[in-house]
Amino acid sequence: MAKTLVAYFSASGVTECVARKVAEATGADLYQIEPAEPYTAADLDWRDKGSRSSVEMNDPASRPAIARGVADMASYDTVFVGFPVWWYVEPRIVDTFLDAYDFAGKTMIPFATSGGSGIPGAEKSLAERCPSATWKPGRLLNGGDIAAWAAAQV
Ligand SMILES: Cc1cc2nc3c(=O)[nH]c(=O)nc-3n(C[C@H](O)[C@H](O)[C@H](O)COP(=O)(O)O)c2cc1C
Repeated sequence: MAKTLVAYFSASGVTECVARKVAEATGADLYQIEPAEPYTAADLDWRDKGSRSSVEMNDPASRPAIARGVADMASYDTVFVGFPVWWYVEPRIVDTFLDAYDFAGKTMIPFATSGGSGIPGAEKSLAERCPSATWKPGRLLNGGDIAAWAAAQV
């Protein structure tokens, strides 16, 4: 039977709330991309060029460590990947996740929340970093019918 995973990173809870709705609507398993070192409010200060998030996002090779992995990635056919937009793309820790598994042959569906920026920058970046997967168009889920969109993907 086809199995679906909703993998998400959320620094302040907004994307987490959306990810739960996506998982509920699709009957998917939920996996949090949890940083080994949690982000503090100071880490998330995008106005501070020296903050952890600024330093990471200024370095395309940055790969912040993830606390724990997915139990059986091989068993999933479809993987939703959810995250907040950071500097118009996905946070680097999402790239850590993409580097950690073999996604060849899997269908990947990005979704994001943001302060207003769209998802195309992240879609391009994700596909470049993980070309072996089959990427479906992503969706910015700042509002709208999350359950209907999610259910239509699987
Ligand atoms: C470091 C950082 C960079 C961000 N960059 C953007 C951005 O480029 N465009 C945007 O619309 N929002 C940006 N945001 C806002 C977040 O995308 C938005 O608040 C998101 O919903 C937070 O989700 P979360 O609670 O799951 O972390 C940024 C937030 C942070 C902390």
